[in-house]
Amino acid sequence: MPLTRKAYRAAILHSIADPAEVGIEASYEYFEDGLLVVDGGKISALGHASELLPTLPADIEIEHYQDALITPGFIDTHIHFPQTGMVGAYGEQLLDWLNTYTFPCESQFGDKAHADEVADIFVKELLRNGTTTALVFGSVHPQSVNSLFEAAEKLDLRMIAGKVMMDRNAPDYLTDTAESSYVESKALIERWHGKGRLHYAVTPRFAPTSTPEQLTLAGQLLTEYTDLYMQTHISENLKEIEWVKELFPERKGYLDVYDHYKLLGERSVFAHGVHLCDDECARLAETGSAISFCPTSNFFLGSGLFNLPMAEKHKLNVGLGTDVGGGTSFSLLQTLNEAYKVMQLQGARLSPFKSLYLATLGGARALRLEDKIGNLQPGSDADFLVLDYNATPLLSYRLKQANNIAETLFVLMTLGDDRTVQQTYAAGALVHQR
Ligand code: GUN
Ligand code: ZN
Repeated sequence: MPLTRKAYRAAILHSIADPAEVGIEASYEYFEDGLLVVDGGKISALGHASELLPTLPADIEIEHYQDALITPGFIDTHIHFPQTGMVGAYGEQLLDWLNTYTFPCESQFGDKAHADEVADIFVKELLRNGTTTALVFGSVHPQSVNSLFEAAEKLDLRMIAGKVMMDRNAPDYLTDTAESSYVESKALIERWHGKGRLHYAVTPRFAPTSTPEQLTLAGQLLTEYTDLYMQTHISENLKEIEWVKELFPERKGYLDVYDHYKLLGERSVFAHGVHLCDDECARLAETGSAISFCPTSNFFLGSGLFNLPMAEKHKLNVGLGTDVGGGTSFSLLQTLNEAYKVMQLQGARLSPFKSLYLATLGGARALRLEDKIGNLQPGSDADFLVLDYNATPLLSYRLKQANNIAETLFVLMTLGDDRTVQQTYAAGALVHQR
């Protein structure tokens, strides 16, 4: 970790609140000629260059980026590391897609060499796309989590992950048991949870692939350690929802299954939630649980349109997820491009500042990490990006027609992708340079 002070000068933009709560203008800070000062892996100052420069030692090193925008690192609240090799698999919706493509692909992650190789590709891909923190599904194999955390630890990334718990309705080669999933998760928690910037997430895949015994033990794990996360899927696909009703006829609905097994809470993140009803949103909000909105996946798997206004009405925490490999891009910029279309198809809007919030501070709040990541307030981890206005000829030309930061931001989110991310910094260190 670099211990010396360094400053970065460019246009700087970050979210400071949810536009749904405070209005758009009060939701962000923008410095047209800004300065970000980093000290020992943390942000020590942020402001207008003209005001901050005179306060700094004359010999401080300053990196000056022209035609570029500094933003906080992006936060992906739902992604599957062992699905990196199967992005863009043709022709199926959720349940057939899992059986045809996903399970065979995930079966390879008990092998250390394979898991290490893909972990390296996966972490590089996150950083190339400007994602500095992700909430990650491993496979059923503890090795998948060990490989991922080892790769993240080398770069001192803030990363959250867990081994999938799955003891029924999946091929034998990919199931654990209630007992083994508990013991293996516990060993991973002991090894990784709270080590550096790493955190563990208890990870029952979704209700159909866990027995009541396994869900009970998942709930028990959450009581045995502090600040553990819980991640799973919910109400993504109509056939999936029908299946959950058949498997758990005694429960009121899909969310009630998780509620019954004590899996809701402030560090619980439910992916998708496309078909949630009003009462379920209210219950999620009441328990402080979060939803990961995964637009590219919901389009690709034909799952449906997430109702963000309903979530906002309930003041539900919502982050953005790529859901690779159901999702089709590691880029949160591309994910926002699709999120905008999800809203358009429902007769609603997604302002560029709400989009910025979802990809940064909203994700941090969903993960209860807003005091550490998600914006550029002094004291935060120095996880930030440099976005290049000249990344492609079209972007460069288009941005010349933009009249203000709102237009610039919206175009970056519509045309931008991994090429737009010129530098990625994590804990003050340069971890990706295009
Ligand atoms: N539901 C259960 N498992 C999965 C998965 O791997 N991807 C998605 N999108 N949904 C799921
Ligand atoms: Zn998923």
